[in-house]
Amino acid sequence: MRKGAMAVALMWAAGAAMAAGPDISVLARTCNNCHGVGGVSVGKSMPSIGGLPREYLATIMKQWKYDERGAATMNRIVKGLSDDEINALAVHFAKQPWVPAPQGVSAAMLKKGKAVISENCEDCHGATGGDPDEDAPKINGQWAKYMELELEKYRDEEFAMPHRKMKKTARKMKPADVPAAAQYFGAQGK
Ligand code: HEC
Ligand code: HEC
Repeated sequence: MRKGAMAVALMWAAGAAMAAGPDISVLARTCNNCHGVGGVSVGKSMPSIGGLPREYLATIMKQWKYDERGAATMNRIVKGLSDDEINALAVHFAKQPWVPAPQGVSAAMLKKGKAVISENCEDCHGATGGDPDEDAPKINGQWAKYMELELEKYRDEEFAMPHRKMKKTARKMKPADVPAAAQYFGAQGK
């Protein structure tokens, strides 16, 4: 290619990339290592993120970035991202299908979990966790072990979790209700 034509081609490519916004697919692939392809996790203590609501994804990533929310890992991962990249990642993962991983649970635990959640959780998360309020994530078929760990963070007075209502509700739970509720939601396919 002649030098002039090359310069024109490069300018065109740069212009096209800018018009389409940042290409987020490369960055999104770095999330696969932990969260699975398409955000469908295969690790029991690692959450699935594909198909979560865009607003929820963007909000919590910014809370980590600006040190408003505690975390062991994600705070470091989002520190280097611009708000535009965070917004684009949220759009990208919200577009993926939500793939529940229904996990086996004993009948007794399921019954206990059902009683806990219909009393305390259903209003905001829906009966199966699949029909949440606007600011809440889907949790039907989310990994139970992960949810148990998160509930313990909401229950910990010292741990920075900015959602006051969820924190308050979690702190009212009896210790034995925590695994029961987590396993109930984890067992739901829809
Ligand atoms: C090294 C492993 C690792 C990588 C890579 C990683 N994450 Fe995470 N992610 C975690 C862990 C662990 C958690 C649980 C919170 C914590 O302890 O940090 C989490 C939690 C999340 C959550 C919360 C899910 C929920 O249900 O509330 C979102 C959203 C998220 N990560 C998005 C991303 C995105 C987007 C990327 C890529 C830019 C990414 N993660 C890369 C380990 C990782
Ligand atoms: C007032 C509404 C409300 C009630 C009641 C409520 N939740 Fe939540 N829940 C939310 C919201 C909103 C979030 C996301 C909060 C955030 O941004 O940290 C959440 C987050 C969660 C998460 C973390 C999900 C993830 O992917 O990280 C779990 C697990 C959970 N709730 C379980 C429960 C259980 C179990 C109960 C009942 C004991 C309950 N919730 C009651 C609104 C509620």
